[in-house]
Amino acid sequence: MYQISLEQPGDGAEIETLLDQSFGPDRRQRAAYGLRQDVPALGELCFVLRGARLLCASIRYWPVMIAGRQPALLLGPLAVGQAWRGRSLGKALIRHSLGRARLLGHGAVLLIGDADYYRPFGFSTELTGGLALPSPVEPGRFQGCELVPGALAGLSGPVEPARCGQAVEA
Ligand SMILES: CC(C)(COP(=O)(O)OP(=O)(O)OC[C@H]1O[C@@H](n2cnc3c(N)ncnc32)[C@H](O)[C@@H]1OP(=O)(O)O)[C@@H](O)C(=O)NCCC(=O)NCCS
Repeated sequence: MYQISLEQPGDGAEIETLLDQSFGPDRRQRAAYGLRQDVPALGELCFVLRGARLLCASIRYWPVMIAGRQPALLLGPLAVGQAWRGRSLGKALIRHSLGRARLLGHGAVLLIGDADYYRPFGFSTELTGGLALPSPVEPGRFQGCELVPGALAGLSGPVEPARCGQAVEA
């Protein structure tokens, strides 16, 4: 039996281990980390998934700002422990957190990731065509999803860190 719950301060060390194992020790060099540096994650959208008390998976979100005026969410990192992959746990965390983000009134979500994995949730590279990340990423990986129809329509400009997050204290 798996349970999704909000990330708690005591989960931090286990999540760091999971992220190191999932993305490698140089994960902080990735483009998305440039948008997370010195900005706390949005605690109300960071979830862990546990089975038999073991931490199996984690998803976090960060606040970003598009073109200096349009707030959005940055989804990720999402990681599922090696032993639990292929059981739809990643999809469950995405579905759960996007539902929560919608309820909280967020309009748009951005991410850098595998398009095939995120397409079923409404993510598309077409919605990010006018947006520029602080550092380049492989083509086809920068995607957006509108939680409110039209939230990304016609937007162009840089995506930058936003400093309105509420920290999950370690
Ligand atoms: C990617 C990841 C989160 C998937 O988690 P998961 O719980 O194993 O995935 P799910 O069980 O929810 O989904 C499995 C499905 O997604 C597909 N899938 C898994 N990883 C994928 C990927 N990187 N790209 C495209 N499809 C992928 C599987 O083929 C499977 O397809 P099916 O349902 O048609 O059989 C997990 O493999 C992981 O943590 N990887 C390392 C970190 C990472 O890459 N995170 C995502 C950043 S974009």
